[in-house]
Amino acid sequence: MYDSGLKVAFITGATGAIGEAIARNIAKDHNYYVVLVVRDENKAEKVTDTVRNSTGNQNVIYKIVDLSSREEIFQFASEWENPLHVLVNNAATTPRSRQVNKDGIELQFATNVLGYFWMMQAFSKQLIESAPSRIVNVASYWAGGLNREDLEFKNRHYNNDEAYRQSKQANRMLTSAFADRFAVQNVTVVSCHPGDVNSKLSNDLGFGGHESPDQGASTPVWLSTLPHDKLESGKYYAHHRIEPCQFSQNKKEVEELYDICNSYT
Ligand SMILES: NC(=O)c1ccc[n+]([C@@H]2O[C@H](COP(=O)([O-])OP(=O)(O)OC[C@H]3O[C@@H](n4cnc5c(N)ncnc54)[C@H](OP(=O)(O)O)[C@@H]3O)[C@@H](O)[C@H]2O)c1
Repeated sequence: MYDSGLKVAFITGATGAIGEAIARNIAKDHNYYVVLVVRDENKAEKVTDTVRNSTGNQNVIYKIVDLSSREEIFQFASEWENPLHVLVNNAATTPRSRQVNKDGIELQFATNVLGYFWMMQAFSKQLIESAPSRIVNVASYWAGGLNREDLEFKNRHYNNDEAYRQSKQANRMLTSAFADRFAVQNVTVVSCHPGDVNSKLSNDLGFGGHESPDQGASTPVWLSTLPHDKLESGKYYAHHRIEPCQFSQNKKEVEELYDICNSYT
């Protein structure tokens, strides 16, 4: 049961390497009520137990949501009657062959891009009512090549690395778009590179990862818990500092991408 004195933090993809570490490190502060937003019930139960037992924070729960599904995300938001102070969009996938979600949308675009987009849209009411609040979009330095004409790889050969880099560019661009929209409501929106961590996702891309999950979680946790006035909305961070982001400079391109994502209803 939610206790109204606590700050609510959602971490998507908390059954994965970096997401679990983000959840656990946020939960170390018992002022947080931590919600693991995940799709696999068995994994969810184990991670919830691990986070509770390792931190002593019993205010850790999970919610089962397919984050590639607009319908499931909006259903979840319509049922969430508590505040939301911190939304960490972290869940991502990078299948080696082209796959689609249950609505036929290419899976990386649906999960990594639209999943983040829909979470920000669907929970805007709770974020605004809980302000000052924040959104931390876990992106990557490994980003680029976004093709607005063919975001779903319908007219070009699918390559999981290309689709992934495009999705992480989109995370950084959409951070800027939502930061502008939320500015007057005191909802801060930032993106970041976490760390290079061995995970299913990095293995599917052909990488290993030389950092521990806790090291990979360090910047997202810092952004999630830093005093509100220390954050600069719309910015891209790495290693606990702002980095220049070439992708969010061109407002016209950012808005075009926003409009395309918004057309997926
Ligand atoms: N690892 C790195 O070196 C690295 C570097 C830069 C950026 N990143 C970013 O860090 C974030 C986390 O990556 P990771 O390395 O920790 O990956 P990971 O271990 O593979 O975890 C991915 C998480 O996303 C979840 N997920 C995937 N599709 C989902 C869906 N449709 N609905 C709900 N949950 C879904 C997975 O759930 P299941 O457990 O059920 O599969 C898992 O919890 C990603 O945004 C990634 O782009 C990672």
